[in-house]
Amino acid sequence: DGDVYKYYSEGEWKTSSSGKSVSIVNPTTRKTQYKVQACTQEEVNKVMETAKFAQKTWAKTPLWKRAELLHKAAAILKEHKAPIAECLVKEIAKPAKDAVTEVVRSGDLVSYCAEEGVRILGEGKYLMPDSFPGNERTKYCLTSKIPLGVVLAIPPFNYPVNLAVSKIAPALIAGNSLVLKPPTQGAVAALHMVHCFHLAGFPKGLISCITGKGSEIGDFLTMHPGVNCISFTGGDTGISISKKAGMVPLQMELGGKDACLILEDADLDLAAANIVKGGFSYSGQRCTAVKVVLVMESVADALVEKVKAKVAKLTVGPPEDDSDITPVVSESSANFIEGLVLDAKQKGATFCQEYKREGNLIWPLMLDHVQPEMRIAWEEPFGPVLPVIRINSIEEGIHHCNASNFGLQGCVFTKDINKAMVISDAMETGTVQINSAPARGPDHFPFQGLRDSGIGSQGVTNSIIMMTKVKSIVINLP
Ligand code: G3H
Repeated sequence: DGDVYKYYSEGEWKTSSSGKSVSIVNPTTRKTQYKVQACTQEEVNKVMETAKFAQKTWAKTPLWKRAELLHKAAAILKEHKAPIAECLVKEIAKPAKDAVTEVVRSGDLVSYCAEEGVRILGEGKYLMPDSFPGNERTKYCLTSKIPLGVVLAIPPFNYPVNLAVSKIAPALIAGNSLVLKPPTQGAVAALHMVHCFHLAGFPKGLISCITGKGSEIGDFLTMHPGVNCISFTGGDTGISISKKAGMVPLQMELGGKDACLILEDADLDLAAANIVKGGFSYSGQRCTAVKVVLVMESVADALVEKVKAKVAKLTVGPPEDDSDITPVVSESSANFIEGLVLDAKQKGATFCQEYKREGNLIWPLMLDHVQPEMRIAWEEPFGPVLPVIRINSIEEGIHHCNASNFGLQGCVFTKDINKAMVISDAMETGTVQINSAPARGPDHFPFQGLRDSGIGSQGVTNSIIMMTKVKSIVINLP
């Protein structure tokens, strides 16, 4: 069936017995770009079975050999950066340069993971019993980290490659097998990335990639008894997965409404540059995007002017031209964003630019004088629309930040490190950035959200640890 990309199971590329496919619509042309297999539940069962089997041998494979294969995969991935980036451009309209960066960053992440794994998994603990009352030195406890089994990885459309390998590499180095369910938009880039792991020569069945409609195989996958760990990045679906999943460790990175708090003494040029980068890169389709600016009234006019001047310089167009602002991922996403804009308009927000949309392409827009009763004050557009709320005290800003159901990251701009520290402590988010826009990287930094923003912590080291369990062996003396 020529033009339908195959899925990956038992170390082979296969056509689904369903005879059905899922179309991937190019966000720019709004025409079908690629098709992938619509896998069946039986095919999911087969993948789970082989993943369980392959994991047993993999767990016994020496750590250095596991690391060696990951290094090989990382190198192959980087060699394939051009064709993979092209898929990202066509499937998710990521600007061409950013698409290449995503693949290179992914290769680096895989290598780093291999190195970190060799260090942290090669170490165990040795405990003496006589710290605890009533014990003599008659038993010794040796602990090590063992794999969980089969890890299910579900990355989102905005980083189909990078947020896939950030789950795959820690899972594999720790001795787990891996089942990947890529997002539909980005599935072909993900399949190509999996092909790099295939070329590196991992054992059959250790990695699988199953494609299809979430509505048909999503619950079946996440509730599958063969799954021993789920690592998910995305939106609300994560909340429903966490309610349905069995007794398995969950790693969830969900939405964000990252606030950017601007104090009176802030370097406004620095703040404006970070607001534009943080708010508009990849057209605002990042969980860590700046999603609300909270600025002290006394500097608000000056800041808004500076941001406006920079927004005017953003290029708008197709990802192939490496435009700053590219079409958002789907028509439904564009419609949702438009809904937030119209709500803000009706409730009296100040439009710093004219609202303009052509198909899925939305021109960058900053909304000033946003009020708490507007949806955009709380909801994440996942698009190039940025609300500004003017505040009269730092407390007001912190209160807005903490009243959000999200708590991913936040940032504060000030020249006073003491104030910055007090504010960082008060902001109830997984990370606070001082004098920079929120961001996940460098990829070995811990990355986590509070409240609806997630469960657990990511980053290379934390992901490796999360995908293992402690095993103790106690030697008892006679
Ligand atoms: O979309 C969520 C990503 O984890 C954000 O990553 O900060 O590198 O864009 P980033």
